[in-house]
Amino acid sequence: MNKTLLFCLVLVLSFTQWGAAQETGSKIFKIGFSQCTNLDLWRKTMFLEMQNELISYPSLELNIKDAQNSSDKQINDIRELVSSGIDLLIVSPNESSPLTPIIEETFRRGIPVIVVDRKIDSDNYSAFIGANNYNIGKEAGKYAAKTLKYKGTILEIWGLKGSSPAKDRHRGFAEEIAKYPGLKILDAGSGEWEKTGGEKLMKANLEKGIPFDMVFAHNDVMALGAIAAYQVSHNRQPCCFIGIDGLPGKEGGIEAVLNKKLFATVLYPTGGGQTIRLAWDILNSKAFNKENELKSLVIDSSNVEAIKTQADEILTLHRKIEFSKKNLDNQVRRFNNQQLWLVASLFFLLVVVLLVLVILRSLQKKRLAYTKLEIQKQEINKQNDELKRISQELSEATQAKLNFFTNISHEFRTPLTLIIGPLENILRSDQLSSTSRQSLQMMQRNVNRLLRLINQLMDMRKIENEKMKLKAVKTDIVEFVRGIKMAFDEEAEKRQIEYLFISDLSSQFLYVDKDKTDKIFFNLLSNAFKFTSDSGRIEIRISNKKMKFGGKENLATIIEVADNGRGIPDTEVPFLFQPFYQAQQAESISTKGTGLGLSLSKSFIDLHKGQISVSSVLHEGTSFSVCFQHGAKHLEQSEIVETDAEYERTEKNIPAATSQEMNTAQSKIPKANKPADKNSQTLLVIEDNADVRLFITSCLADQYQIMEAANGKEAFDKIDEQEPDLIICDVMMPVMNGLEFTKKLKSDIRICHIPIILLTARTSHDQKIEGLETGADSYIPKPFNSNHLRVRVAKLIENRQKIRKHYQENLQIPSSASDVSQLDANFLKRCNQLVELNITNSEYGVEELSAEIGLTRVHVYRKIKHLTNLTVSEFIRNIKLKKAALLLTTSGKSVSEIAYETGFSSPSYFSKCFKDYYKLSPTEFVNNNS
Ligand code: FRU
Repeated sequence: MNKTLLFCLVLVLSFTQWGAAQETGSKIFKIGFSQCTNLDLWRKTMFLEMQNELISYPSLELNIKDAQNSSDKQINDIRELVSSGIDLLIVSPNESSPLTPIIEETFRRGIPVIVVDRKIDSDNYSAFIGANNYNIGKEAGKYAAKTLKYKGTILEIWGLKGSSPAKDRHRGFAEEIAKYPGLKILDAGSGEWEKTGGEKLMKANLEKGIPFDMVFAHNDVMALGAIAAYQVSHNRQPCCFIGIDGLPGKEGGIEAVLNKKLFATVLYPTGGGQTIRLAWDILNSKAFNKENELKSLVIDSSNVEAIKTQADEILTLHRKIEFSKKNLDNQVRRFNNQQLWLVASLFFLLVVVLLVLVILRSLQKKRLAYTKLEIQKQEINKQNDELKRISQELSEATQAKLNFFTNISHEFRTPLTLIIGPLENILRSDQLSSTSRQSLQMMQRNVNRLLRLINQLMDMRKIENEKMKLKAVKTDIVEFVRGIKMAFDEEAEKRQIEYLFISDLSSQFLYVDKDKTDKIFFNLLSNAFKFTSDSGRIEIRISNKKMKFGGKENLATIIEVADNGRGIPDTEVPFLFQPFYQAQQAESISTKGTGLGLSLSKSFIDLHKGQISVSSVLHEGTSFSVCFQHGAKHLEQSEIVETDAEYERTEKNIPAATSQEMNTAQSKIPKANKPADKNSQTLLVIEDNADVRLFITSCLADQYQIMEAANGKEAFDKIDEQEPDLIICDVMMPVMNGLEFTKKLKSDIRICHIPIILLTARTSHDQKIEGLETGADSYIPKPFNSNHLRVRVAKLIENRQKIRKHYQENLQIPSSASDVSQLDANFLKRCNQLVELNITNSEYGVEELSAEIGLTRVHVYRKIKHLTNLTVSEFIRNIKLKKAALLLTTSGKSVSEIAYETGFSSPSYFSKCFKDYYKLSPTEFVNNNS
């Protein structure tokens, strides 16, 4: 937009300038005019004539400078004019001699010079224009002589003596007067062209008393000055005065002659008009005369009338011209103004047009954008509608699911309660075997856990639907919390946790909803016990403090549950009270929980207009603070009840699924059920959930020795102590999960031979493959059937036995044995090779083999035993015997030779071993095979 405007401005200005150039037609010439003075009538007349002439030459520009009768100033004026860049100089030199050099210099510079009126002492100028002052002097002389009848004294009043007109006029006048001896000139001195000069000289002469008959002044102005002085003295006899110039107008010489003041005057034309015309010719390289003489004549009473008429006419004409010029100037000024206005209007119009165009364009753009927006809006609306529809559908679906979920949860409560009740009844019986009691207790704990979870979910739904109402009863909070505390006393004792209840107050009555408060502290304590290790510390502290609730200060009771457990990372703290948030620190499912407990607790505390806060230091501990306000002002009337009958009726709290449950589950399997057969196989069960571990153990304990570990790491420690024959391992476990454990086990040459069954709830096909790829020998998905597990364990153990048997008979692993890892096959192969290489060495035993294979004696022993069911000595001996059998049938060597060659200390020992293995003596063997 700015660029467009600028462009238009430039366009308009260029157009205007072009128009102006068209109007003037050609180049503008600058003319400098240096006047010796500007003040007197003669010069004013000259200037008027010039101005009037200039109307016809619009391309001439006149710049006039007034030297004020000073030659020095005039020299400076000329310099200034020249340096201003004039094309031509007009000069009327004040005095000849002082002005000659500067005029010559200007001329030589190539600037045309027109000398007017007064002359210089040189020819170095372009042209001269003016009357012939010598002739004028002569004419005046002639006229004076004739008037005085050739006798008498003439007082001569000079002009500026250094100026050419004064000199020339005197010369002409004197020459003429000299012709008549009766005439005499009296030099009055110089009046310097001014009236006051004439006046002064006349006065001086009158004072001197020298008589004269006539006065001849070099101009009319000085003559009139002299007349004025002369008339002051009345007694003087009349005299006749002659002047020069003969200017028109009231002050002029013509008028003075007419009024008989002046006797006569000699016309001295200014030549203003001619000068301009001459300048034009010179500047336009037209032919011109160098010397241009202006005509003159004597004006006296005989012709003054006619000349005045003529002069008046000329003057009128000049005035008319001047008036017309002024009019024209006004017109031009007006025209210029109008032109300016026109240009400005045009420009404004152009700007308006452009603006309109721009506005139209932007309107069009806007319209387009608007249409586009409209389309987009419609599209967005459509998408919005679609989204709304989908979200509506989704929310309906979610609502339906949640309703279903709530209903189902609700439905669960009845059967669960019906399970809990009978279970409790059965458990009360004394007739139960300890195994049955344990199983039933496990059931009880897990049913309780389910019920608790379902209750939490239902509470959550109630809170979401804003249906959860507070039933605040005046309660002694100290006693109430102490009661909840006691529910965990047993666990604290079992796990040797320092469990303290520290209260500043013996009692404190608050308005609290018992059911919700029970759940809050039960949850906080469950968490504390979950995340505190055995022999740790848990404290419940109660105190009173003034606090701010919604800007208002109130007394409050603060109940703090603090532990020195593993703590919560700072990054998790802000999310602790969000629903379904599960602590990252809690690695196993049992410690993770549902993620509802804290969120529910916070909602319950909010209902009480209380506060909950947490502070935790990782690896040092966590502290939850719950604050309840004193009094009941902060509660609605409808939230306060006398007693909570429902709460009093129900079971206080469902025992939490804390480590208490887990620990209870850790009670040992009754040893009585286990066969104490020392040949029986040992199984290692790795499972973090104590109940599941107990369940697996109970399925297999009657057939196998059982070792237990809660995670992969613990399992490795156990294996170090005693190597199991088979491992059953859960996949999802804290510390070291089942997949990591299997990978580590199967890449350790010392123990990779132990078969492993992975047991997990992950049932997807990919996960099965992942499990098997780690080297697991089998994979059983949860929930599993106990028979299935038993069969799988037995099958794997049986396979191993078959392989061992095959090895014992053939001294090699069967090619079909996929159960044996490549690592184990290579191990046996390498052992074979090492024994064969040392076959003659009777000292070669387990020590030497272990050293060469790079494993400890124990590991080599365990490995060979596991893979072949042979001791290392048996393993070495069998290889030697196999070699000996080959040599007996192929080498033709004697039995003793072969005995020594295969590293037996004596032929008799060799024969004994051989017979034990092949059931034939070496000789019988040779005979049978020859
Ligand atoms: C005007 C004037 C005239 C005279 C002329 C001579 O300045 O004094 O009166 O004729 O100059 O140059």
